[in-house]
Amino acid sequence: NGTSSAPQSYVLVTGGAGYIGSHTVVELIENGYKCIVVDNFSNSCYEPIARIQLLTKTEIPFFKVDLTDQAALERVFEQYPIDSVIHFAGLKAVGESTELPLKYYHNNITGTLVLLETMQKFGAKKLVFSSSATVYGDATRFPNMIPIPEECPTGPTNPYGKTKLAIEELLEDLYNSEQTRWKFAILRYFNPIGAHPSGIIGEDPLGIPNNLLPYMSQVAVKRRQKLFVFGNQYNSRDGTPIRDYIHVVDLARGHIASLKYLDKIHSSEGICRVWNLGSGTGSTVMEVYKAFCLACKIDLPYEIVGPRSGDVLNLTAKPDRAIQELKWKTTMNVAESCKDLWNWTTRNPSGYQAKGVVNKFFGAP
Ligand code: NAD
Ligand code: WQD
Repeated sequence: NGTSSAPQSYVLVTGGAGYIGSHTVVELIENGYKCIVVDNFSNSCYEPIARIQLLTKTEIPFFKVDLTDQAALERVFEQYPIDSVIHFAGLKAVGESTELPLKYYHNNITGTLVLLETMQKFGAKKLVFSSSATVYGDATRFPNMIPIPEECPTGPTNPYGKTKLAIEELLEDLYNSEQTRWKFAILRYFNPIGAHPSGIIGEDPLGIPNNLLPYMSQVAVKRRQKLFVFGNQYNSRDGTPIRDYIHVVDLARGHIASLKYLDKIHSSEGICRVWNLGSGTGSTVMEVYKAFCLACKIDLPYEIVGPRSGDVLNLTAKPDRAIQELKWKTTMNVAESCKDLWNWTTRNPSGYQAKGVVNKFFGAP
């Protein structure tokens, strides 16, 4: 691995107790980076941090900090030499964002502003930002732009997506404003799925899952009665919408590739650049349903219902820019992602709630 070339200062991971953040911390450690995690646990808990330490046999400094609390964040920067930040912390539920826009704008935008101000104060000028394919909105309005390249015009249709685009624009403005250059990698994720192959960490949504794979896995362990398929009258192979599903470990590795890319940019130049992180392959809801049924060997009950408000026909990435520049591409397909999701689910049928599961399955340190 990259131990010898990795920097000795720390990478701060905001939202590192969350789904994508926790998987990225594992990859960072495996690539020789030293990390610190901050999270306010608004959508997570300490358990994944405990498990990552077990999995990687590495102590990870953790601070329960809300990013909007500048004094608390500054105390973290005072204690550790932080050189780069991977910024996952944010609220992400599309539906909730339309009901509570102030909550989303405040948390996502103020949190990012405070983070950037703190980074500036402490001279940390490298940031990888979690953006989303949702910034493209309904890309099918540009028929020659499917699969979607980064040049596709943006047009988010919900407050969550608008906070992501606003932050992208803020980063661009900040990059353009200064002589001492910032280095920004803006990563537009498509649909992250799956779990770490160890089954030690995975996705554990609070409440009723909004997303397809977590919902299906809860049906499989009988926490939910059946899957509701949101519409089968779309103009696709089987009438259900198309998405670009990407294994969360592949996605996590995209962050390592981005950090390495930023490291190669001369600090007198800086950079602010967008990359799609997707596979380039689209799957319909029914294709994913079948792949997951195969993985768990259950014919999951489902019912076709009306389309979900705000859903679009096709969000498939054109990942060429990441392949060429970051030297990164996906290595695992939907079937492998479903297998790893099922492994995580069977080991942790009620997610992280069953604390102590680490001891039971994996042996306490
Ligand atoms: P997640 O909710 O599992 O993780 C986000 C973490 O950030 C949580 O642990 C939460 O407690 C924390 N957090 C939120 N607000 C915070 C604040 N103000 N201060 C400190 N911590 C805070 O979500 P995820 O799926 O891991 O997503 C990570 C990032 O990627 C988010 O920014 C999300 O918008 C973005 N993203 C996610 C997806 C997806 O489908 N999962 C797709 C595209 C983009
Ligand atoms: C996938 C497909 C649904 C649940 C969301 C956000 C996006 C990004 C990724 C953060 C769709 C169908 C789903 C169910 C279903 N997140 N579905 N029954 O909507 O593509 O993207 O997560 O940035 O911003 O919008 O993902 O998993 O919710 O849906 O039929 O119970 O599954 O209609 O076609 P989506 P999803």
